[in-house]
This record gives sequence, C-alpha cells and structure tokens, in this order.
Amino acid sequence: MINQEKIEAAVKALFGGIQFTAEPSGLYDPLRYMIEIGGKRLRPRLCLTTYSLYKDEFCPEILEPAAGLEVFHSFTLIHDDIMDRSPLRRGVDTVWKKWSPDTAILSGDVMCIDSYSRVAKAPRKCLDEVLALFSKTAAQVCEGQQYDMEFEERGDVTMDEYMRMIGLKTGVLIACAAKMGALIGGATKEERESLYEYGYNLGLAFQVADDYLDVFGDEKVFGKPIGSDIVNSKKSWLTVRAFEKAEGGALSDLREAMAMGVGTPEEKEEKISAVRGLYQELGVGRDAQDSILRLNSRALEAARKVCDGERFMLLYDFAGRLIGRAK
Ligand code: IPE
Ligand code: IPE
Ligand code: MG
Ligand code: MG
Ligand code: MG
Repeated sequence: MINQEKIEAAVKALFGGIQFTAEPSGLYDPLRYMIEIGGKRLRPRLCLTTYSLYKDEFCPEILEPAAGLEVFHSFTLIHDDIMDRSPLRRGVDTVWKKWSPDTAILSGDVMCIDSYSRVAKAPRKCLDEVLALFSKTAAQVCEGQQYDMEFEERGDVTMDEYMRMIGLKTGVLIACAAKMGALIGGATKEERESLYEYGYNLGLAFQVADDYLDVFGDEKVFGKPIGSDIVNSKKSWLTVRAFEKAEGGALSDLREAMAMGVGTPEEKEEKISAVRGLYQELGVGRDAQDSILRLNSRALEAARKVCDGERFMLLYDFAGRLIGRAK
C-alpha cells in the first residue's frame, strides 16, 4: 500500500517533469496554460489512490496514464466552456475567451491526442483493457455533453434522465479513473467493478455538488461564474428537483422565471435572482445536499466490498474531500 502523503506528493509532482511540445505556441500555449493553472487534479489522484491499494511504489506505468486522465479532463473543459459560453474557469479567463474559439477547438483536439499517448503507456499486460476502457469512457463523455445541450431546449427533463446524463458527462470519467488505477495495480475483476461503482457514484455526487455551487457557491472560491446554469437554461439537479416539487402558483412562477430573457447583464442578474429565490423557497438546495450524502453512502458501500482498514480509509478520505467541495 502507498500512503496518503506519498499519493499527494505524486499528484503535486505529476506534471513537474513533463515537457509539452513548444511549437506552434498558438497551439500548445493553451495546453500549458490549462495544466499550469491546475484544478483539483481529482481524476489522477483517484487513479493513483486505487493503484495504491495494490502496490508499494509509483512508476511511469501508472503516472503517465494518471496524467493522461487529467489532460483529457482539461480538454473536455476547454470545449465545455465554448459550449457553455463561459468566460471564467479556475479563477481565470477560459481558453476561448483569452485566445479564440478556434484556438480552443484545436488546442482541445491536440490535448485529447496527448491524453491518449499518455494512457497508452500503461503496462503491456493490461494495455488492451485500459485502452478499451478509456475509449468507451471518452465516447460516453461526448454522449453526456450532447444530452446536456439538448436538455437546455427541454422543459420536461425527469430526474432519471438527468441522472443518466450526468452519469455520462461526469460519472464515467471518475469511474474510469478509479478502475484504471485498479487495473494497472493488478486488482481482480470483481474489485475493479466495485471500484468503478465507487467512482461512478462519487462522480454523480460531484456533479450534483457542482450544480449546487453554480447557484449557491462563492465565485472567488468556485472559480467559475455563479448562476451560469440558470442563464444557460441548463437542467441542473436543482432545476429538475424544483419542477418535481413546485405546485400551483410556485410552478407558474418557476416556469416564468426559467423563461426570462438574458439579453443584457441586468436581465441575467434578474433571472438568476428570480430562479435562485424560487429554489430557496422550494428548499431544493437542502435536497441536493441530501442526495450528495446518499450517493456518497452508495460509493462507500461499493468500496467496502474491496478493502477494509487503512486501505478503506484511503477511499473514505478521498470521498469525503470530494463531497465536501467548495470549489
Ligand atoms: C469540472 O471538473 C467539470 C465537472 C465535472 C463538474 P472539476 O471541478 O474537477 O474541475 P477542475 O479540474 O478542478 O478545475
Ligand atoms: C461539465 O459539466 C462536464 C464536462 C466537462 C464533461 P459543467 O458544464 O457543469 O462543468 P463546469 O461547471 O463548466 O465546470
Ligand atoms: Mg457543460
Ligand atoms: Mg460548463
Ligand atoms: Mg457546472
């Protein structure tokens, strides 16, 4: 087993020794920018954590795929910010805003390719399985993102549909990170599947928390614009839950608020405060917190099938940090 301190040190050092191609700088600068600003590095941390359950030391065969997961994730964020018209990420300008949408598309593409070449450095004995897992996951993320966009145009999205959508856009990559670390570490098939389930449920909890923070978070900590889901008519967890709960006057108020125009900055602010007010009246923020705790319990149930003692505590602590997020 590798302890928490060593995992943390490996996450910190992950991109320290990596040289990205320099030229043309217009293509590679955005890549460096995204990696250097750095986010929470959740997916590589999880991959290294599940690997740590089985091994006593890190080596390039796990560090490169773990880095690949982060590069892939950062690529999806660059494209997501174009799709969501978002000007701010990790507290700084998004790539399309700082450079241009065209640059964001192409730099994103090259990051996707870079991520594959890193994941392909997994050990030969499990390479086929690792690549099959990664490719399936990458396609599922695109499927989830497509549903996310289609739901903007719909007013009748059910909670089941919403959960399936976030399972694809967010759940599967976190699940893939957990499973990949286990696969490279040499876990049994049953253990890998349980760790996938652990990651998947945590991924769902993570996205519900993201939706919550998009409305009730602190922009300085969250690093993204507050209210952007409301402005974009996203069907977030809060929206779907609010429509489940609202009746009579509250339901027509909610419909009206969701249909408000967002042509000017003032109109955007008015819509955000109208919708947020209704969410507060309906108590959907509290419901979101309850849902996050339920999903966390499900994740931990799956983790319990794999290990106990110190090993279980690694998974328990990771989950605790993830659901306690303020950014
Ligand atoms: C943002 O992911 C996209 C979602 C799945 C909600 P993170 O919140 O992990 O982003 P960074 O990498 O820490 O910036
Ligand atoms: C993003 O969901 C999921 C992916 C990038 C695949 P969001 O659109 O909610 O993520 P943020 O809030 O922009 O980080
Ligand atoms: Mg999005
Ligand atoms: Mg977004
Ligand atoms: Mg979001």
